[in-house]
Amino acid sequence: MGKFDDVRLHLRGQRYHWLVTGAAGFIGSNLVEALLKLGQQVTGLDNFATGHQHNLDQVREAVGTQAWASFSFIEGDIRDLATCHAACAGKDFILHQAALGSVSRSIDDPLLTNSANVTGFLHMLVAARDAKARRFVYAASSSTYGDHPGLPKVEDTIGRPLSPYAVTKYVNELYADVFARTYGMQTIGLRYFNVFGPRQDPEGAYAAVIPQWVSALIRNRPLFINGDGETSRDFCFIDNVVQANLLAALADRPEAVNQVYNVALNERTSLNQLYLMMRDLLQERFPHLRQHQAQYQGFRAGDVRHSQADISKARELLGFEPTHRIGDGLQEAMDWYVSHLAPQNQG
Ligand SMILES: NC(=O)c1ccc[n+]([C@@H]2O[C@H](COP(=O)([O-])OP(=O)(O)OC[C@H]3O[C@@H](n4cnc5c(N)ncnc54)[C@H](O)[C@@H]3O)[C@@H](O)[C@H]2O)c1
Repeated sequence: MGKFDDVRLHLRGQRYHWLVTGAAGFIGSNLVEALLKLGQQVTGLDNFATGHQHNLDQVREAVGTQAWASFSFIEGDIRDLATCHAACAGKDFILHQAALGSVSRSIDDPLLTNSANVTGFLHMLVAARDAKARRFVYAASSSTYGDHPGLPKVEDTIGRPLSPYAVTKYVNELYADVFARTYGMQTIGLRYFNVFGPRQDPEGAYAAVIPQWVSALIRNRPLFINGDGETSRDFCFIDNVVQANLLAALADRPEAVNQVYNVALNERTSLNQLYLMMRDLLQERFPHLRQHQAQYQGFRAGDVRHSQADISKARELLGFEPTHRIGDGLQEAMDWYVSHLAPQNQG
C-alpha cells in the first residue's frame, strides 16, 4: 500500500478542520472536493478575483448534500489581515492556494500581482502562526527556476526569476522558510509545474494553455502557439497535485517539513506535441478538427523555454507517486471540457 493510501485511510478515521484559500479557483476547488469526499471539515476562502461560484456549485454536486454540510465559505480577500485571522482561527491545516496566477498578468500589472501574492501571502502566514495551525502548505511555482538552464529541475538549484510572478512565488518560499525558523511554524511549499484538469478556467486573456486550446478547438476558433512550439513543459494533472497537498499536510518525517518540493511527473511535452495530442483526443467528437491547423505567433515575454521536474525529493520524503501521466489526465480533462463547454458552442 502506498503512502497516499495510508493518508486517505487515516483521514477517513480522523476528522480535521482545513482552510483552503483560493477555494473557488481551479486547484482550490479540487482540494475542497477531495477533502469533503474524505469526510473532512473544510472552510474555503476566496474573493472571486479569478475564481467562480460555479466551481463551488460543481463541488457541491460532486460530493452530495451530506459532505457539503461540512463546508463553509468565507468570501474575503487575503489582502485584509483581519479576514485571514478569522479564516485561520481553529484550523488544523491550511492549504494556501489563493494568488493571482499568470506570468503575463504580472508583467501587465506587477503591483496587483504583488499585493495578492506577497502581501496576501504574508498575511496568511501571520494568521496561520497566530492560529497555531499544525501546518501551512502553500502553492509555490516552477517559475522559481527562472533562467537556470539545467534539466530536470532540482529543488536546490534555481536561477534568476524571469517575471514579477516568479519573484512573488520565490518570495513566498523565503518568507515561509523564515517563519519556520523564527516562529517554529511547520510549512511546506509545493512547486507546481503547469497543472491542468477539470475546472481550470478557459476564459480571459490570462487563461492557461490547455483550457485556452480546448476552448478554441471545441469552438473551432483560431489557436495560437507561442514561438516555434518547441517550448516544453512538465504538464501535471490535478489529481497528482491533490495527492501532493494531502501528503504534505500529513507528512510525519521531521526532515520532510519546512521544505519545498517539485510537483509534476519528470516528463516533458512540447507545445507542438501537446497540440497534436489534444486535437487527436477531440477529433472523434468534433470532426471539424481533422482539418484544424495551429497558427504560430511570437515568443511570450517571461516564459521559461523548457521545464521538467525531478520529483525524487517528493517521492522520497513525502511518498509522492503520480497516478496520472499527461495522456491519462488529458483524457479526463477533455471529457470534462466537452461536457461543460460544448453546449454553449451549440447555442
Ligand atoms: N495552475 C498552475 O499551473 C499553477 C502552477 C504553479 C503555481 N500555481 C499556483 O497555484 C495556486 C492556484 O492556482 P489556480 O491555477 O487554481 O488558479 P485560479 O486562478 O483558478 O485560483 C486562484 C484563486 O485564488 C483566488 N484569489 C486571488 N486573489 C485573491 C485574494 N486577494 N483573496 C482571496 N482569494 C484570492 C481567486 O479568486 C481564485 O479562485 C496559485 O497560488 C498559483 O500561483 C498554479
